[in-house]
Amino acid sequence: MVTFFLLALLFILLLVNPFPAMCQIGREGEWCLLHASIGISAMHMQLLHNNMVVMFGRTDFGPSNLSLPYGRYRYDSSDNVLKNDCTAHSLLYDTGTNTFRPLMVETDTWCSSGSVLPDGTLVQTGGYNDGDHVVRTLTPCNDESCDWVEFPGYLSERRWYATNQRLPDGRIIIIGGRRQFNYELYPRNSESSSSFWLEFLRETRDDDENNLYPFVHLLPDGNLFIFANTRAISLDYKQNRVVREFPSITVDDPRNYPSSGSSVLLPIDENEPIEAEVMECGGAPRGAFSKAKQGIFDAASRSCGRIKVMDENPSWAMVDMPMPRVMGDMILLPTGDVVIINGAGSGTAGWEIGQNPVT
Ligand SMILES: *[C@@H]1O[C@H](CO)[C@@H](O)[C@H](O)[C@H]1NC(C)=O
Repeated sequence: MVTFFLLALLFILLLVNPFPAMCQIGREGEWCLLHASIGISAMHMQLLHNNMVVMFGRTDFGPSNLSLPYGRYRYDSSDNVLKNDCTAHSLLYDTGTNTFRPLMVETDTWCSSGSVLPDGTLVQTGGYNDGDHVVRTLTPCNDESCDWVEFPGYLSERRWYATNQRLPDGRIIIIGGRRQFNYELYPRNSESSSSFWLEFLRETRDDDENNLYPFVHLLPDGNLFIFANTRAISLDYKQNRVVREFPSITVDDPRNYPSSGSSVLLPIDENEPIEAEVMECGGAPRGAFSKAKQGIFDAASRSCGRIKVMDENPSWAMVDMPMPRVMGDMILLPTGDVVIINGAGSGTAGWEIGQNPVT
């Protein structure tokens, strides 16, 4: 009898469990395929507070394999590939039920940037072409009522490969972007948009004008740590004043797009004196981007640097990773450890010029 119930229970669980059979065992440290295809490119992903994940890619690359619902479509006269488009370029994935539904994003989110507001709303800014001055918001919901809301022309500057950081007052600062040596705030202060010059971003770009997606961390003193390629500053954004200039990172490999390394603000101990330490890992040597475009793939940077940014005379402590890595990710764990994962062993970010995936 008991066996019968257990078997029946197992049967019911298998029936209602939305995850594929190979994912039910819960083997640790193994990837499991949830869907053979979701139909869009998940260039950008954000986990929302209700365990949904919003994904979106670029809109100017032709149709996706996911239809927009209810006969909706995009009409975009400035799209380079497809002006009338009835496919979705964004979706909302439910991690609990392993289901997803298409979302409607109108403008091009290619290499845009985003931050989550204190209320859980994702604010995604900029992108390419018709999307470069757009602010879009997505407020999480547990039914089918939420979708992207777009505010065309909201940004004062074009923001493509910019970096966003949430501020203590709930606003978001949007820093840089290709050929943008300035920053601005969301929500903006007045009806007229405005941006603030930041010479540091002009100085740190390389020969290809790249120092994109700069690394930004909010420091305990309220200033912003900004790292671009090999240099770092502390910025008082309220007064538009650079308050500190840190020494350049000791190993002279650029670490921002396309020499994309990664960066974390290490966990902060609340006991006095408050210390803040930033770590940057990986990147690519100077010239690697130009060389990779010609088919010469330099080994990526294997160095990590740590700096205590509240010290009076801070200096970089360097350490080598076991292998070179560009386009890696770093994730803080609750234990205080940092996981370094993903990326390529040679080449750089960009179109098919990263080589040797680090698995
Ligand atoms: C759509 O499907 C085609 C054919 O299977 C595939 O080549 C393409 O990569 C898919 N596109 C996306 C965005 O999933």
